[in-house]
Amino acid sequence: MEELRRHLEKKAREALEEMGAGEVSLSAEAPRDLAFGDAALACFPLARTMKKSPAAIAAELASRLGPDELVEKVEAAGPYVNVRFRFSAMARSVLLGVLEGRPPYGPFPARGKTVVIDYSSPNIAKPFSVGLIRTTVIGAALYRIYRHAGWKAVGVNHLGDWGSQFGKVLAALERWGDREELRRNPIRHTLELYVRYHREEEKDPALAERAREIFRKLEEGDPGIRALWKEITDLSLGEFQKTYDRLGITFDLVQGESFYEPYLEETIQKVVEAGITEVSQGALVVRLGEGDEPPCLLRKSDGTTLYLTRDLAAVFHRWEKFHFDQCLYVVGGEQKLHFRQLKGVLQKMGLEWWDRIEHVAFGLIRFKDGRMSTRHGKVVFLDEVLDKAVEKVREIIQEKNPDLENKERVAEAVGVGAVVFNDLKNSRIKDVRFDLEEMLNFEGETGPYVQYAGARLSGILRNAAARGLEPAGPEEDPGLLADAREVIHALGSWGDSLGRALKEDEPSQVTGYTVRLARSIHSYLHDHRVLGEEEALSRARLLLVAAARTQLERALGLIGLACPEEM
Ligand code: ARG
Repeated sequence: MEELRRHLEKKAREALEEMGAGEVSLSAEAPRDLAFGDAALACFPLARTMKKSPAAIAAELASRLGPDELVEKVEAAGPYVNVRFRFSAMARSVLLGVLEGRPPYGPFPARGKTVVIDYSSPNIAKPFSVGLIRTTVIGAALYRIYRHAGWKAVGVNHLGDWGSQFGKVLAALERWGDREELRRNPIRHTLELYVRYHREEEKDPALAERAREIFRKLEEGDPGIRALWKEITDLSLGEFQKTYDRLGITFDLVQGESFYEPYLEETIQKVVEAGITEVSQGALVVRLGEGDEPPCLLRKSDGTTLYLTRDLAAVFHRWEKFHFDQCLYVVGGEQKLHFRQLKGVLQKMGLEWWDRIEHVAFGLIRFKDGRMSTRHGKVVFLDEVLDKAVEKVREIIQEKNPDLENKERVAEAVGVGAVVFNDLKNSRIKDVRFDLEEMLNFEGETGPYVQYAGARLSGILRNAAARGLEPAGPEEDPGLLADAREVIHALGSWGDSLGRALKEDEPSQVTGYTVRLARSIHSYLHDHRVLGEEEALSRARLLLVAAARTQLERALGLIGLACPEEM
């Protein structure tokens, strides 16, 4: 599609120059409706420079853009020039692009740009709760999408492994901890004790004091306390890793907040030297914004540093190490102020790269029974949710397709996929409805619906292979596929979806693409037979099936879903 659009844009540029518009250009876009054509040129942007109405420009431009080897028909419609491409040329460009994996379908060559993406970043000694799914899957999807687009992506897991709350965690373990239980069930055990400590501390101030003391010791490097802290960190990471493996998620850098502990002083010095700090009630602050915006705290009056101080140290470290073009923080909307302050400090320091920092925020998960909180111990583990989804899929398979091979693998791919897909379905800033029934509905806009389209395509390819039937080759005229214009368009819209996904940091653009593609496939297969037609037609349709399958799998892969051969 891109090749044809570039061709059209070039023609338009030449025609506009002949019309005396000078060196201006228009970009060819997807038409609002396929009935209008395969591409449209919107003439609004030229009205001012050309001192003519968009409709007049469109009319003249259309009259100068005749048909050629790629363009079949050109028509002005109000401010638009609608263009129909020659079907065979369009189909060949899309199908070959997909099957040969040319960009945008396949990955782009390296562009020499770097994006650092901070995602997942769970707090250790706490459960990997279902609430963490959002940052984890949105971040991982963006990571894959940027890489596909030729960026060097650096995935960072900024573990929450430091801060005064660890005083409480360690104090609770010191008081009631059971070694055996800790090893067997590290997170559950720690969580239980933490919740208990939190409760009892309200009645017994000595507990709060002990927690503070332990954190101080941790900061000072007390060997016993450090060892316990390290043990908790390792056990937590081991647990988290199981969930990451299920989700197919990796990081280039697992660097927790504690890593920056030795750099906090020099970080604070840098900010002080920039002359933007002041001391307020014994604390070191930077004043940002006006009015009642709280000042940004770098060091409390008791000498302790904060989450923000550690994020400042981390961002300097990332800048020095990667000289990133973008640095994304995939973190919930409730940390908006934090990231505004982080950016604000960098800006006030006069660092020209402050604007490369971006908070990629997202909405909440909405369960039927309200939000989850770890403080009160009412927490849903993500792993359990995934298990439940997989279990339900297993039941569906048992009922509908009991002879399926690799049942377990398919159930895992579809169950986990359904949960991931549900999270990436709508624009990230919206809240996510969390309802297993809904995400497993094979008819809705769901993971299973899309995966099923892929399995259907694979089934056709298998049957064809069994009959010794090969897809048509690239040298053959795809004109026989004229009734598949919708599928070709759905396939060919990939470049637009990918472009928007990158521009808006929106994996939902990719998810939306898979739904449109799946829908067009289901609808085409509903009305057309692939096998059992005259050989040339069957083979042409097989080419379409192969391309659709390839691209569906690619797009699903970018959002972290497998595309099972059978289900
Ligand atoms: N651990 C933090 C939390 O759970 C999220 C960290 C996000 N990343 C960052 N660099 N601040 O709230």
